[in-house]
Amino acid sequence: MPPTKNRQWLLAERPIDRPVKLTDFKLGESPIPEPKDGEFVIRVIYSSLAPVMRFYMLDGAGIEKPLEIGEVMRGRGVGQIVASRNSIFKEGEIVQGKMGWQEYAVSDGSPYWMMYKVHQRLVPVSTALGILGMTGFTAYFGLFDIGKPKPTDTVLVSGAAGGVGSSVAQLAKTVGCYVVGIAGSDEKCKLLTEKLGYDAAINYKTEDIPARMDALCPKGIDVFFDNVGGPILDAALARINKYARVVSCGGISQYIAGSNEPYPLKNAYKIGRLNALLQGFLIYDYEPRFAEAEVAMAQWVKEGKLTYQEDVLDGFERMPEALIRLYEGKNRGKQLVRVSKDPF
Ligand SMILES: NC(=O)c1ccc[n+]([C@@H]2O[C@H](COP(=O)([O-])OP(=O)(O)OC[C@H]3O[C@@H](n4cnc5c(N)ncnc54)[C@H](OP(=O)(O)O)[C@@H]3O)[C@@H](O)[C@H]2O)c1
Repeated sequence: MPPTKNRQWLLAERPIDRPVKLTDFKLGESPIPEPKDGEFVIRVIYSSLAPVMRFYMLDGAGIEKPLEIGEVMRGRGVGQIVASRNSIFKEGEIVQGKMGWQEYAVSDGSPYWMMYKVHQRLVPVSTALGILGMTGFTAYFGLFDIGKPKPTDTVLVSGAAGGVGSSVAQLAKTVGCYVVGIAGSDEKCKLLTEKLGYDAAINYKTEDIPARMDALCPKGIDVFFDNVGGPILDAALARINKYARVVSCGGISQYIAGSNEPYPLKNAYKIGRLNALLQGFLIYDYEPRFAEAEVAMAQWVKEGKLTYQEDVLDGFERMPEALIRLYEGKNRGKQLVRVSKDPF
C-alpha cells in the first residue's frame, strides 16, 4: 500500500545556552499533502544537515524567521516530484530546495523555496546537497571569490574534514596552491592528506596549534578559509602575510552553549597592518552564479579532479542524531540523512 502519512520532525524546545539535544525535537505526522493549483509535492530522498540549524531553532540566524515551537524543522533536501499542478515543476523531476525535516514537502516553486531542478546528474542524487549544492558552492565562492588563491599561495583551512572543508583543498589545488587543513582527530587528518588533497594536516585537539602552523606554513598564510572561528582564527591571523585574504565562512566553535560572548581576537589588528582582507559571506547571495559553480564542479568531478565526501545516515528517524553529529565532530564530509529509497 502506498504511504498516506507524512512524518515530520517538529521543534519541541529551543537549545538556549546549551548544545542541541535529541529531546529538542518531536516526531509528528500529517497527511501527505495534495498539491493545490500551482503547487507540487516532493518525496524527499535525502535531507541536508548544517551547523546553522541551531540558529534556526533559536533566532533564525538572520536568514530565516525563527521557528515556532511545534513547527517543522527547516532544512534543504533533494527529492522527486510525485504530484504536480505547476507548469514548470513536473511530476518525476528531481529538485533540491527548502523541504524541511519531513518525508513529503509541498512548494509552489516561488523564490522563497529556492527550489532548483537537478540538471547535473551524478549518482547518487545526494550530491545535489553536497558537492553540487549549497555546501560545494560555499567552498567554491568562498575560496575563489573572496580567497582569490594564486598558484604560489599557502592556503590554510579549518573545519577541513567537514562538508565545506572537504572540497576546499581540492579546489585550491586546481590553482596549484599548497594547502594545510585543520581537523579534530588523527583519523580525519589522515583523510585530509590521503583522500581530500591536503598537503599537510593539524589535529587541533592534540597538537600545539600555533607551533604546527609555524612548522607547516613556513612562508606564512596567504588565504585562510575559516569554518570555526575562535582561537584557531586568532592563531591564523597571527601568521597571515601582506595582502592575505581571510574567508570567514563560519564559526562553529562559537555556535554552541556557553559561547554567547564572542571570542576576543588578539590578532585582528594584523588585518589593517598587513593590508589584508577579512570577509564573511552568505552563500544565498551568490544565487545568480550557482550555475557557474555547478557546471565547473560537475566537470571536475567527471574528470576525477574533485572527489566528494558524504556521511549518510539511513532513516528519517535519525535526523536529530545527524544534526548533533556536526556539533560533536562525528561527521566525515557532508552530513546527510537518507529519508527514502534513492531510486537511481
Ligand atoms: N557562509 C555561508 O553561507 C555558509 C554556508 C554553509 C556553511 N557555512 C559554515 O561553514 C562551516 C562548515 O559547515 P559544514 O556544513 O561543512 O559543517 P561540517 O564542517 O561538515 O561539520 C561541522 C564540523 O565542525 C567541526 N567542529 C565542531 N565543533 C567545533 C569546535 N568547537 N571547534 C572547531 N571545530 C569544530 C567538527 O569537525 P572536527 O572534528 O574537525 O572538530 C565538525 O565535523 C560552518 O561554520 C557553517 O556554519 C557557511
